[in-house]
Amino acid sequence: MSTVTRPDGPSVPRIVQGGLALAAPLWTLRRLHRRYGSAFTLDLPFVGKAVLISDPAEVKQLFMTSPEIADNLDFNLGRVLGPNSFFALSGEAHKRQRKLLSPPFHGRRLREYEAIVEQEAVREMATWPEGREFATQDSMMRITLNAILRAVFGADGEELARLRELLPAMVKLGSRLAALPFPRARLGRWDPWARAHAYRLEYEAIVDRLIAAARSVSSGPGLGERGDVLALMLQSRYDDGTPMSRDEIADQLLTLLSAGHETTATTLAWAVERLRRHPAVLRRLAAEADGGGSELREATILEVQRVRPVIDKTARQVRAPGLQLGRWTLPPGQVVLVSIYLIHNNEALFPDPRRFDPDRFAGSRPDTYQWIPFGGGVRRCIGAAFAHMEMNVVLRTLLRDFTLEPTSQRGERWHSRGIAFCPAQGGRAVVHRRVPAVAGVPVAVRSADGQDR
Ligand code: HEM
Repeated sequence: MSTVTRPDGPSVPRIVQGGLALAAPLWTLRRLHRRYGSAFTLDLPFVGKAVLISDPAEVKQLFMTSPEIADNLDFNLGRVLGPNSFFALSGEAHKRQRKLLSPPFHGRRLREYEAIVEQEAVREMATWPEGREFATQDSMMRITLNAILRAVFGADGEELARLRELLPAMVKLGSRLAALPFPRARLGRWDPWARAHAYRLEYEAIVDRLIAAARSVSSGPGLGERGDVLALMLQSRYDDGTPMSRDEIADQLLTLLSAGHETTATTLAWAVERLRRHPAVLRRLAAEADGGGSELREATILEVQRVRPVIDKTARQVRAPGLQLGRWTLPPGQVVLVSIYLIHNNEALFPDPRRFDPDRFAGSRPDTYQWIPFGGGVRRCIGAAFAHMEMNVVLRTLLRDFTLEPTSQRGERWHSRGIAFCPAQGGRAVVHRRVPAVAGVPVAVRSADGQDR
């Protein structure tokens, strides 16, 4: 291939760049953007030279490039989530799984999951204190965890109760280990990889019980009558007629939960954080919810994801002997990072980009190569529609059952939780329960100045 041309980048040692990326990721990104423009080359521990891009044409080209040319960057996720996880698969194997697992996340199936999400939201919100500030992040985490365990794992009873405890601990440990290289030596009693293994064994035993229960004719509804993703996995067949193996099912269930639970909950916590600081939008949303509408709420979700993308970048690795990506000629193995954060802050694409303005999406669909909180191309988030449905139902329930008090406090800072960026104080809210509506009569809505209207 022709001579490699990468964008310029900082020349400080790898360890310093890694430290800055960990300690002040967005500050560093903004500074590098000011200095080098839309693309620059970083040198990062465990990754090496990585080209970061944010030019819309280059991002679109990368997302549209076939997986034979540039595919996923599997760091440790395969080891943490299992070798059959979407994050560990590439090429044909990945395509096969996408084809099989896409249907449960679209159309009619999604509407069936709405009731589960609403039940979980109502149940969790019943515990919210009135008139006292509290962080919503953990509450949102419980809603999205329970929703996934029921809609995706099809879990209930004892299994649901145990998974509720086990999975958050397992995923938390996993996301920490995913950022580290696998140790050559065992570390004795405190070896976190040994703990991860013990969690995994217990998890697999529960998945076996869930599979056995789903197949059993004597317990609950028959497999064909169930709509959860596990039941659909058990009934699905690859093009050659073979079913998914038990290991594939276990790895993919864990992947769906790990990828879908914290990301969705964190975006909801940001929605609370943004809306409290935009009382006019909040008032319009409450009025819209009372009237049964959803257009502004849908646009609000898009705008929250634009201004506060909880995943700030996604990655690909060059698999072909070389890749001409826009202005750059990249060698095989080159890691390319797409900055979701920078493209969402591009003035030319989103005028006055730091302004929170849901109306910019009112009545229109965003361009999926410029509005990219779910990544793009063949690896675009498989749960995007599911997440949107969940956020829509949770916000609808919140607006219907509560008034959210606006605040004039400064916006919460971004805080990295390892995988997702969350509001530093957990998306704090002050809520008041609304008077239940009597058929046909709209309930009183307290406005920003505290007056009922
Ligand atoms: C607001 C919520 C969510 C956000 C912001 C989000 C974001 C992302 C991003 C950025 C990617 C990488 C895409 C790429 O590399 O181009 C991804 C992949 C993925 N997400 Fe999501 N996600 C969310 C919710 C969910 C949910 C609810 C599920 C499942 C129930 C899910 C399952 C997955 C899976 C399995 C992948 C890997 C896809 C593949 O490699 O083919 N995500 N997500």
